Amino acid sequence: MEIPEKFATLGLTYDDVLLLPGYSDLAPTDIDTTSRLTRELSLKTPLISAAMDTVTEARMAIAMARQGGIGVLHRNLSIGDQAYQVDLVKRTQTGIISNPVTIGPDATLEQLDRLAGEYRISGFPVVDLDNRLIGMITNRDLRFTPVAEWATTKVDEVMTPMPLITGPSDISREDATSLLRRHKRERLPLVDADGRLTGLITVKDFVKGEQFPDASYDAQGRLLVGAAIGYFGDAWERATTLIDAGVDVLVADTAHGNVRMLIDMVKRLKTDPATRHVQVIGGNVATRDGAQSFVDAGADAVKVGVGPGSICTTRVVTGVGVPQVSAVYEASLACKPAGVPVIADGGLRYSGEIGKAIVAGADTVMLGSMLAGTEETPGDLILLNGKQYKAYRGMGSMGAMSSRGKKSYSKDRYFQAEVTSDDMIVPEGIEGQVPYKGSLATVAHQLVGGLHQTMFYVGARTIPELQEKGRFMRITSASLKESHPHDVQMTAEAPNYRS
Ligand code: XMP
Repeated sequence: MEIPEKFATLGLTYDDVLLLPGYSDLAPTDIDTTSRLTRELSLKTPLISAAMDTVTEARMAIAMARQGGIGVLHRNLSIGDQAYQVDLVKRTQTGIISNPVTIGPDATLEQLDRLAGEYRISGFPVVDLDNRLIGMITNRDLRFTPVAEWATTKVDEVMTPMPLITGPSDISREDATSLLRRHKRERLPLVDADGRLTGLITVKDFVKGEQFPDASYDAQGRLLVGAAIGYFGDAWERATTLIDAGVDVLVADTAHGNVRMLIDMVKRLKTDPATRHVQVIGGNVATRDGAQSFVDAGADAVKVGVGPGSICTTRVVTGVGVPQVSAVYEASLACKPAGVPVIADGGLRYSGEIGKAIVAGADTVMLGSMLAGTEETPGDLILLNGKQYKAYRGMGSMGAMSSRGKKSYSKDRYFQAEVTSDDMIVPEGIEGQVPYKGSLATVAHQLVGGLHQTMFYVGARTIPELQEKGRFMRITSASLKESHPHDVQMTAEAPNYRS
């Protein structure tokens, strides 16, 4: 019997496919997991933490950026609170202090000591009235002057005067690091061609840079951060307030993105002179047409996933969705020719699925449940039968959409912004808990480690090579059973495998 066209498409997801091993002459150090997040931003680790209120607030966003990924701050909070979260991330690791606290040469050491206490800093560039750098003074310089003389001793009597080791205003992170190292300095003042002070780099940043070599930075050396927005009510005000707070990426975030109001929002953000410099991600879609709508609207990346998430009930409540590997592939058909990166959002349970998502056409993956339960997620530990857990819930769950607990700001993600009574809400997600997993760094290590191994097995040195070389084999449920541990009772849990 011929299958009617209406039923002809077969949808595949992660468990339906395996990647074929390929010839590999790679050393582990050859492998580079850098990938494009948006048209203009890249990440050394292609991981994004989900915009969910049990996953990403400032602490998670900081941890993700330090690991080379990025966090998207959820939007189930007031505009002011979300902007404050952006600010917390942007202040965490100030690469270049663009407006350092300075002191004049005629100030007394007593004044200097007061200033140091006020700002909790131990060294100052000394500048003249034209902001020209004339020296540096630090706590160390004070040590050689008795405290009794501080009221009468001036800064220029004890400072280290020019010539000093300085850098140009547009110095790269690498050059600054090597200058600090070579001259064993704790601070590097930056000056323009006329010798005017334009910034300061401290060795503290250098140390942090060593600790987090893959961290995701903006052009000023601050950690990258994303934030979710909607399309309804005060959404425009939310977007512009987040931009003022320094957000790098806005994520137009709904369960069904192929909707005129959201597409118009993306279009407006990418054309308005006040907002178009910020990267905008559109989502979620699960078809080629849906992705095309965002490409045409000027989106800088497209996020894919309708119903694959661990806490999602969209597919059972509405009967709508596309198995995730097929959805990512379909969306990539619209995005790749336009050079727009694809994000595979939701449904990942094991590190091996990151590589599968990438071969299907994704550039990065967004994770909820895999990161839920880590130390850096919002919420307290729950103790149950001697085991530790943390809460994890869908943004379309009753808990996230109802007024139970506190005001819900994100009902428009499920197109229910105007539903005022909790009884009338139609949830599309559930509330649950996941085992406590320790620090994000350990989880991220296993995820990136797994991706490295995928690339080695496939024989791909880079993410674009993995996309190009990777080939799937469709498998049966018997093969899936064979893939997992079988016929053995597990006696110890592996850090990257839970049964
Ligand atoms: P995972 O599988 O990583 O999925 O836990 C996270 C993604 O799921 C989406 N999400 C939802 N989808 N109902 C849904 O249908 C929900 O309540 C819900 N909450 C989150 C979202 O895309 C997230 O990144």
